[in-house]
Amino acid sequence: MKLLNKTLCLFVALVTLTSTPTFADSIDDSHMEWWREARYGMFIHWGLYSIAGGEWKGKDYGKEQGGASAEWLMNSAKIHGKEYRNALAPQFNPTDFDAEEWVSLAKESGMKYIVITSKHHDGFCLFDTDATDYNVMDATPFKRDIIKELADECAKQDIKFGVYYSQFKDWYHRSRGKVKGTLSNDEYLKLVEKNLEELLTNYGEMAVLWFDVGGNDVIEADAQGARVRELQPNSAICSRLYSRRVSVDKQKYADFNSLPDRMLPSERMTVDSETCMTMRHNWGYDHTDDAWKSEKDIVEFLALCAARGVNLLLNVGPDPKGNILSEETVRLQAAGKWLAVNGDSIYGTTASPVDFDFLWGAMTQKDQTIYLHVLEWKKEGVEFNGIVGKPSKVYFLADEKREALPVSYDANGHITKIDVPAEAPDFRNTVIAVEYDAPIVTDENAKGKYHWYTTRSKRHTEIKHNPHAGQTELLEAVKAARH
Ligand code: GLC
Repeated sequence: MKLLNKTLCLFVALVTLTSTPTFADSIDDSHMEWWREARYGMFIHWGLYSIAGGEWKGKDYGKEQGGASAEWLMNSAKIHGKEYRNALAPQFNPTDFDAEEWVSLAKESGMKYIVITSKHHDGFCLFDTDATDYNVMDATPFKRDIIKELADECAKQDIKFGVYYSQFKDWYHRSRGKVKGTLSNDEYLKLVEKNLEELLTNYGEMAVLWFDVGGNDVIEADAQGARVRELQPNSAICSRLYSRRVSVDKQKYADFNSLPDRMLPSERMTVDSETCMTMRHNWGYDHTDDAWKSEKDIVEFLALCAARGVNLLLNVGPDPKGNILSEETVRLQAAGKWLAVNGDSIYGTTASPVDFDFLWGAMTQKDQTIYLHVLEWKKEGVEFNGIVGKPSKVYFLADEKREALPVSYDANGHITKIDVPAEAPDFRNTVIAVEYDAPIVTDENAKGKYHWYTTRSKRHTEIKHNPHAGQTELLEAVKAARH
């Protein structure tokens, strides 16, 4: 709960007698401070599915076609656990994998935390575990504990490290109805317990426990959440520990609200929230997906997330050899360069002081400064309403000299206007710092609406409703087009 302080929160709760949405089991949420400051992290989807790259027996199952992405292959292509394991595990030998390279890239790109799939829905563990032999040490020729190498490297380079862990869905181990896994339900829950114990004791600090696709059984989820709290009280626990059907006040152990994949909420968030986003359609590596977002898309989305009070966890899907793709690297580095200059407008900021955005972009705030993220240039001037009083200083954040930009303020309607050059200094996102010499006061009567990313499908995965989902002809057509 970051917009209100705790005392005020309690007070509001007592006075209104409504249940204030809360995500943590305890009032002390100081373990979330670094997470709030961070604003930007790296998500890594990597596993056996990366070898297949969204393709099985000549058929394309990637690109979220039919609703599923490349890492869903086992389910989408209805592959039996044994067959999937036998086909892919012996091939898992990513000799190019270098933890130092990945972690350095995340750092260079301005990301403040890393979350990697330690076990996805296919049940394969990227870490050393005694709970199943379906893991990188026992089932693959690689025999290196990937989670350990990354955890150690993150500690060395001083960046927060966390794991994604699919606790509910496990197509390999867990039996569901008629579909037999290798374990009974009770045995499966023991495996999860053991895995959590291993992940939370053998790898140093685990800053994030990113659960995914929670089931409806709150008792099961609570037990897993309690175990995390017990072993690492400072771990930030993802709300996907619970099903979305579980009301927020019953999500006892969730520390942050994980929004549905790729979603920018339609307004500012008042609880700790995170959006995860792909750089193309798929999470896991896919051979033929070339729907890359541009460098501008990424910088823009990061700013809009921050303006709505949301962390961005941006995904990479390394290839079977262990390389983060060059298309990903280029985009991450470009965003990193932008952040090196404009980071003050993202890290440690809070959401926009006003509950709307503008045709030119959106705002973030830190203390007595407002940052205007100008995504669409307005050569006639950048204008905003909603803030009372004339700013004391206005300048381009990227301008080392901080030369003042001409500014006017009309108390009638509280309209501030900044004169700008005809050309945008940064076509992706020019940040204008607007400083005030007193705490920021918003105009309660201000009117405005949200203009950016108001419909989810418009900007992201239009392919989702492709009627040709999963069809062989389509894959052939994509391949032919490439030659
Ligand atoms: C979904 C998918 C999964 C992916 C995740 C990322 O829940 O099931 O494949 O890992 O989103 O947020």
